Amino acid sequence: MLFGRWVALGVLGAMGLAAHAASVKKQPFGKTQAGKPVELYTLTNSKGVEAAITNYGGTLVSMKVPDRAGKMGDVVLGFASTEGYLKNTAYLGALIGRYGNRIGKAKFTLNGVEYKLPVNNGENTLHGGPNGFDKVLWTAKEVPGGLELTYLSKDGEEGFPGNLSVKVVYTLTDDNELKIDYSATTDKDTVVNLTNHAYFNLAGEGTGDILGHLVQIHADRFTPVDAGLIPTGELKPVAGTPFDFLKPHAIGARINDKDEQLKLGGGYDHNFVLNRKGAGLELAARVVEPKSGRVLEVLTTEPGIQFYSGNFLDGTLKGKAGKAYQKRYGFCLETQHFPDSPNKPAFASTTLKPGQRYHTTTIYKFSTEAAR
Ligand code: GLA
Repeated sequence: MLFGRWVALGVLGAMGLAAHAASVKKQPFGKTQAGKPVELYTLTNSKGVEAAITNYGGTLVSMKVPDRAGKMGDVVLGFASTEGYLKNTAYLGALIGRYGNRIGKAKFTLNGVEYKLPVNNGENTLHGGPNGFDKVLWTAKEVPGGLELTYLSKDGEEGFPGNLSVKVVYTLTDDNELKIDYSATTDKDTVVNLTNHAYFNLAGEGTGDILGHLVQIHADRFTPVDAGLIPTGELKPVAGTPFDFLKPHAIGARINDKDEQLKLGGGYDHNFVLNRKGAGLELAARVVEPKSGRVLEVLTTEPGIQFYSGNFLDGTLKGKAGKAYQKRYGFCLETQHFPDSPNKPAFASTTLKPGQRYHTTTIYKFSTEAAR
């Protein structure tokens, strides 16, 4: 009798979970250069919030969330089909790997061996090289409430050592959180730094620049860069600089200040050293778009976050609704280990060894707040 009750409760519990898990719908999304079919997976939660992800580049294509009046809007920049992504020079929404951000002079040394990487950004390697994880077709599998993407990056691919087996799981919760779980294992020592390159505009994609968004970043320090946007190695206090986002500031408030770092980045394009208490998920950043009332919170297990104010967007990319993405029409908050860590022994290590499991989690949580 008691046993029967437990079984019944267990079944109800499972049903409850199932009822709250986001639904997943799959549809064709075009073809790769090589003619392989690409799919778009739309996750929808019980509030009607939607996240659409394609297995091409593991890319977040759209994110529909309500404003304070309940009106839905798509808050990430993206394209209507795979065709747009084949020419995606700005990494819109993509999964980034094997090494997110820059590796200086396109090389690093591991266990006494120098590895040369393809150059694709000045003299450096950016976002895993010209054929990084943003340009590959991932294997997709629907899982409860989300989508699991896997990819095997072969030993030597884009110059990196070791067969790297990567798994990324996107989950949409009923609390309007898009959770991204990254994991990887290797069969040789290698370096790994995975992230997502979504550009957000909380007023709606293509509606204008993001300069009025209020940004708060929980970082007392940032990593200043040289002319090639490679960290100098210094951890510089943000106090008294336009990089102090400990209290919320509009992105545009100080972006044109006479500041050497802003000049080098053409705006904000810097890694912030997150103030962390431990190793778990902690709030890294909070962004408010005052007119719509939409709020984005970024929680992560990572030590750093790249705040990029969309300085290289120049109107040549046209988005899914046909609108040109002009300079600063979107901002990115890329959770990560620090850029160029493989060449910076003082930075937290990005080395992954056989037998270890790389695992990081980032949550993009959407909500609204009342008019100020
Ligand atoms: C990252 C880099 C930027 C830029 C964008 C893509 O955010 O830090 O400098 O390369 O990717 O355009």
